Amino acid sequence: MEKVTMDKLTNFCKQYGFIFQGSEIYGGLANTWDYGPLGTELKNNIKKAWWKKFVEEQINVYGLDSAILMNPDVWVASGHVASFSDPLIDCKHCKARHRADKLVEEFTNGKETGDGWSNEKLEEFIKQNNITCPKCGKSDFTPIRKFNLLFETKMGVTEDNKNKIYLRGETAQGIFVNFSNVQRSMRAKIPFGIGQIGKAFRNEITPGNFIFRQREFEQMELEFFLNPSEEEKWFDYWRKYCMDFLKSLGLKEENLRYRDHKKEELVFYSNATTDIEYNYSHGWGELWGIADRTDYDLGTHIKHSNADLTYLDPMTNEKYIPYVVEPSVGVDRLFLALITDAYKEETLKDGSTREVMSLHPFLAPYKIAVLPLVKKHHSQKALETYHTLSKELMCTYDETGNIGKRYRRQDVAGTPYCITIDDETLNHNTVTIRDRDTMEQITLNLDEVANYVKEKMKF
Ligand code: GAP
Repeated sequence: MEKVTMDKLTNFCKQYGFIFQGSEIYGGLANTWDYGPLGTELKNNIKKAWWKKFVEEQINVYGLDSAILMNPDVWVASGHVASFSDPLIDCKHCKARHRADKLVEEFTNGKETGDGWSNEKLEEFIKQNNITCPKCGKSDFTPIRKFNLLFETKMGVTEDNKNKIYLRGETAQGIFVNFSNVQRSMRAKIPFGIGQIGKAFRNEITPGNFIFRQREFEQMELEFFLNPSEEEKWFDYWRKYCMDFLKSLGLKEENLRYRDHKKEELVFYSNATTDIEYNYSHGWGELWGIADRTDYDLGTHIKHSNADLTYLDPMTNEKYIPYVVEPSVGVDRLFLALITDAYKEETLKDGSTREVMSLHPFLAPYKIAVLPLVKKHHSQKALETYHTLSKELMCTYDETGNIGKRYRRQDVAGTPYCITIDDETLNHNTVTIRDRDTMEQITLNLDEVANYVKEKMKF
């Protein structure tokens, strides 16, 4: 099936209340996005799914919600102040601004990512291969400059440099600085993990592709602390676990692949890194990064803060700095993958067409739409039903237009089940329940509906 284009997806999201342009009535603010009523539900369900599988169902993973604003020394220790930067290159001819590594990646169709390359190596490659500016087609670039991605802000009332702090560039650092707090308060034993969902900010040079690369986005990060002798075992475990999670949410296998980082791409402290990539409308791109970060993070915070972040194994008396395996995924990127995968345009038997968002029932914004067949006769019972069911599941109610039109409205919202309240409901307490994907209908007792849908939500 042909892939939906990004333009179509963007318009679809706007029309049906998934995602709007940020600050739209003021002409917008470039590359900012507001999640609408359906988008908010879907996004919350994505976060719920991750939390369930990575925190709730894990006997040894604990949740955290750390502050966005942190002591600026954290970002010095983590290395972000010195080296959290992208290689910025300008086209001298049309003044367009590019990431030099992305020019290389696009030129080589992803065979080379430019990750970990020095500025000299990137410049040399661009020159030798006569890579041109994607905007104007000329090959006349400035030297590369490093551009730090941390967002700066000021804390307090005086405007001097002492008050400079940063919006966090990743949620992970909030986890590392709380390693001992969580370990002690939960009496956690290695191996154990800390999971967190929250906003992160990066002053990206080239944001774009809808919600794929933004300056404000959300991350779902797990830092899994382990004995160094078990590094490979846990890296392989989480690498597979993340892929299985994506498939269980219904993402098509052919749109997912692993990309193991080559040795020269790895950051100096990482022993292994794998990206799970998704085949977006604009091509394959990183969805999830799984990194073996060794003891770098805890080690550097020990050095800079003097805190004791070592672990004493109560069984062996061994004292060591734990290693970390980190699966880190962006909520917005997963959102984009899920809607790209779920969007379908179908031609029906009668020749008409329909648009459908075939989202997994767990993720769908509404689980059930309650539809009175004839407003005059059935709306009272339908409203009663809505109020009962919505105590257990997110429901919607629609009494406007013919039943066919109402089904179409639910198809675009991704509602997996519609129930019709008719005379049979009034007389026998039964409803017809219509499946979004097959469009088939079966009859159920009203009392069975909630459990029927809950069963389908399992993943
Ligand atoms: N703590 C590790 C870390 O932050 P990363 O690869 O820079 O690693 C992890 O980010 C994930 O966050 C990415 O795989 C991606 O899903 C998401 N992400 C990163 N930058 C993003 C951006 N500018 N916009 C949207 N999502 C982003």
